Amino acid sequence: MEDDRTPKPVVIITGCSTGGIGHALACAFAEKKCRVVATSRSRSSMAELEDDHRFLLEELDVQSDESVRRVVDAVVETYGRIDVLVNNAGIQCVAPLAEVPLSAVQNSFDTNVFGSLRMVQAVVPHMATRKKGKIVNIGSVAALASGPWSGTYTASKAALHALTDTLRLELGHFGIDVVNVLPGAIKSNIGDSAIASYNRMPEWKLFKPFEAAIRDRAYFSQKSKSTPTDEFARNTVAAILKEKPPAWFTYGHYSTVMAIMYHLPISVRDFILKKAMKC
Ligand SMILES: NC(=O)c1ccc[n+]([C@@H]2O[C@H](COP(=O)([O-])OP(=O)(O)OC[C@H]3O[C@@H](n4cnc5c(N)ncnc54)[C@H](OP(=O)(O)O)[C@@H]3O)[C@@H](O)[C@H]2O)c1
Repeated sequence: MEDDRTPKPVVIITGCSTGGIGHALACAFAEKKCRVVATSRSRSSMAELEDDHRFLLEELDVQSDESVRRVVDAVVETYGRIDVLVNNAGIQCVAPLAEVPLSAVQNSFDTNVFGSLRMVQAVVPHMATRKKGKIVNIGSVAALASGPWSGTYTASKAALHALTDTLRLELGHFGIDVVNVLPGAIKSNIGDSAIASYNRMPEWKLFKPFEAAIRDRAYFSQKSKSTPTDEFARNTVAAILKEKPPAWFTYGHYSTVMAIMYHLPISVRDFILKKAMKC
């Protein structure tokens, strides 16, 4: 039976489709005895969690004001509070910047940046009233060294990192911790999703000779050495649930390499990225 003196933290996570990081985070929070509100665009993508009483499942599209408001209101109505928000929903866009359809750039920012901020704006009033809460934004180590073919994605994650750093300073007044999580290369559906979007893009004019390299970029984080999703989730949840969570937390294959890349002279970084991305 739940001890009323230590109520279970209520955690809401976006983008919890099976096979992805959000799904693994949901399971890892549940293992730590949290009440987990697992959300995704379609309930069927979380079917595995359906009969597990540790999860409340909700459909939520981070691009929709109405969807976000409905779910946040439902969670507050059910549990009376939100202790942790994890902005995990995100999409990768691979394409050369000079030819990528602006609609694809817009869609990436609508999901990765504005979707996260929409969630933040919806939960902050509830957290601020209680002077307590944690907001976790899932960024990316890719934004530490922007390379060819992923400019849209890294720009959106760099923007998210900047928002996260500002939020941490602004929301500290209200007892809200804000954590920037930078995954390294973690096994998930991100490559398949990126290729599905890529296949709907027009043929490149100038960049046709780089077609194979651009396609490869979609799966750069999905190699045999990529970190297993549940390992990443366990370590990330342990960091988030600390009484004083870190401002930045990074974990996974390539996370150290990318931190080093960030500090390299630009000419050296460009040389490495051009080689690695066959540019
Ligand atoms: N995997 C990596 O190596 C890696 C590295 C660095 C950062 N990340 C970040 O980690 C997060 C999770 O990605 P992942 O690797 O687990 O990829 P994933 O398996 O493709 O999961 C992405 C999740 O986001 C959801 N989503 C997309 N658009 C959405 C929207 N408008 N509203 C709500 N949910 C939406 C997807 O839902 P659907 O199933 O409906 O598409 C899916 O549940 C992302 O922010 C990603 O950028 C991943």
